[in-house]
Amino acid sequence: MRLVAILGSPRLQGNTALLLREVLAGAKEAFASLPASGPIREMVYPGAGGAGVQEGPAEPDGSEVKAAAAEGGEELEIEVYQVNRMKIKPCQGCNRCAETGHCIYHDDMDRIFRAAEILDGLILASPTYFYSLSAQTKAAIDRFQSFWARKYVLKQPMPDPAKRPGVFLSTAGLPFRPEIFEPSRAVARVFFRLNGVAYQEELLVCETDKVPVQKNDEARKRAREAGRALIRSWAAARAGS
Ligand SMILES: Cc1cc2nc3c(=O)[nH]c(=O)nc-3n(C[C@H](O)[C@H](O)[C@H](O)COP(=O)(O)O)c2cc1C
Repeated sequence: MRLVAILGSPRLQGNTALLLREVLAGAKEAFASLPASGPIREMVYPGAGGAGVQEGPAEPDGSEVKAAAAEGGEELEIEVYQVNRMKIKPCQGCNRCAETGHCIYHDDMDRIFRAAEILDGLILASPTYFYSLSAQTKAAIDRFQSFWARKYVLKQPMPDPAKRPGVFLSTAGLPFRPEIFEPSRAVARVFFRLNGVAYQEELLVCETDKVPVQKNDEARKRAREAGRALIRSWAAARAGS
């Protein structure tokens, strides 16, 4: 199972990163409890640290995570992309991808594109900046215009969302108002649909200026459960196919 997370916050120990870490912890926990689960590996790009996960083999976090090392079992591979630390040129709107299905630029997005093609689960994590996604997150998403061209211009088949669950998570500093998350939710939904990922769950945490995620037990609990649910959906879809 390949679980890909795109972290759009520049604050690698901030609210969004912490929430992402909880979702990943929940995913690891649920995966380890599957009957045929194998090892769990995590990779953070670029480099180690950041979202609170480390490059290389995962350390199970706490007693609730069973060591998962069954020989021959399915592996959980977690890939976290810290877009703020990656070289990502904004889309230039040249439309060459409409002819080829590929971007003319080759930078760190190549890694995310490859991951998007083969992922089994997706987590998109962004802070709210001016009622929207962070610019770092949006720059990465805009580069998926090449995937849009593949799907809608070149009519290439895309993966089945029934088999690829996704979670969108976002944090905002202000007290809740329905409109705070609306632009981000709209973009995230379109992004998931384009990539053949089901928009299974959204985790929208506001008022972080007053109650940071670190002190928000309820939000962290919800995040863990979202991670568990993502794995459960993936396992159920796989069992049914
Ligand atoms: C440039 C910028 C714009 C922001 N705009 C908003 C906003 O429109 N609404 C809001 O509620 N919070 C806004 N915030 C606050 C952040 O959304 C909030 O602090 C968030 O939890 C930060 O996530 P992080 O800790 O992962 O960086 C903004 C923060 C920054 C730096």
